[in-house]
Amino acid sequence: MKTILVTGGAGFIGSNFIKYIIDKDVNIINLDKLTYAGNLSNLKDIEESTNYKFIQGDICSKDLVSFILQEYNIDYIVNFAAESHVDRSILDSTPFYQTNVIGTLNLMDCARNAGIERFLQVSTDEVYGSLGTEGKFNEETPLAPNSPYSASKAAADQAVIAYNHTFGLPAIITRCSNNYGPYQFPEKLIPLVISNALADKSIPVYGTGENVRDWIYVEDHCIGIYSALMNGSLGEVYNIGGESEVSNIDLVKNILQLLEKSDSLISFVKDRPGHDLRYAIDISKVNNELNWSPNHQFKDGLEKTINWYLTNSDWLLSIINGDYKDYYKQQYSNR
Ligand code: NAD
Ligand code: TYD
Repeated sequence: MKTILVTGGAGFIGSNFIKYIIDKDVNIINLDKLTYAGNLSNLKDIEESTNYKFIQGDICSKDLVSFILQEYNIDYIVNFAAESHVDRSILDSTPFYQTNVIGTLNLMDCARNAGIERFLQVSTDEVYGSLGTEGKFNEETPLAPNSPYSASKAAADQAVIAYNHTFGLPAIITRCSNNYGPYQFPEKLIPLVISNALADKSIPVYGTGENVRDWIYVEDHCIGIYSALMNGSLGEVYNIGGESEVSNIDLVKNILQLLEKSDSLISFVKDRPGHDLRYAIDISKVNNELNWSPNHQFKDGLEKTINWYLTNSDWLLSIINGDYKDYYKQQYSNR
């Protein structure tokens, strides 16, 4: 039975990942600093499981990470822990480089010392930069990040590749497109639109709303990560995508329609500086080598997600009524 250290397991994707693997034959240690994005209530229904343990702490701490690797005989590390929101990286990039780069380096140094079997770095398609209207990212696409967030993730990816090459660190990288689904913090587009629409608040669409994202239902991403962790080849990169390209404006209108709200809530606001036009992933490699493809069509995933937010309004309200208010004011009041 393998013991997996999941970092950032109280965040959106990490908590979905833990719920996905909790019934498998694994032990799980969840190390999370509990920043504004970390929320232990995401894990309420599994927190008593005998194969699960939560530890609050920072992936940048050498003492803590070394202790955990030894004390719990960790076999695999899956690194979700990150600062993950592009807009926040434009307001202040320092924590992004601290956690996403220095934190990843620290995990890898500790992993080398402990001799762990596998290190999976959860990365993003944003490291490839922006596409024009044609083409898709594959694993050979050169890294060309544009935002402070994506540059920090690309720096971490390069460090993982260097550690694999130089020290033989048994590492794998997955790069995924935009996720959506239960427990996503409402600063990201889909939950923000759902949350504002339910409150009849205006919905800020950056620029003209023509930007395109390739949306993936979070559970499909988790299945892809688990598959890469268990069956992926060491030293390889695997792109994971939803095969669901949608422009922001179409997406917003789609959500409003499903919630039976008027398009008049839409407000076109000042564009994000350096806003990437389009992301799209070629999934041939994961499909051929790991037999993975997304299970959800965008339409079904979106309906499931909206229903989840409707039945979990307490979860949403507890965030919206907390510190999130200050961020929202800072981000949108002068736009
Ligand atoms: P999130 O912001 O919801 O969660 C991040 C988690 O990391 C939080 O629980 C936070 O408390 C924790 N954390 C932050 N700094 C930490 C530190 N120094 N030490 C320990 N824990 C720390 O992010 P997410 O959307 O769940 O993304 C998870 C990972 O997946 C990130 O690495 C992100 O780059 C990547 N990713 C996200 C998407 C997406 O669409 N959300 C797409 C592709 C890749
Ligand atoms: P986001 O969820 O922040 O993901 P990312 O920037 O990592 O792709 O944003 C998704 C898209 O939605 C992106 O093109 C920016 C846009 N967007 C808006 O138009 N308005 C908003 O209020 C937010 C948060 C995002």
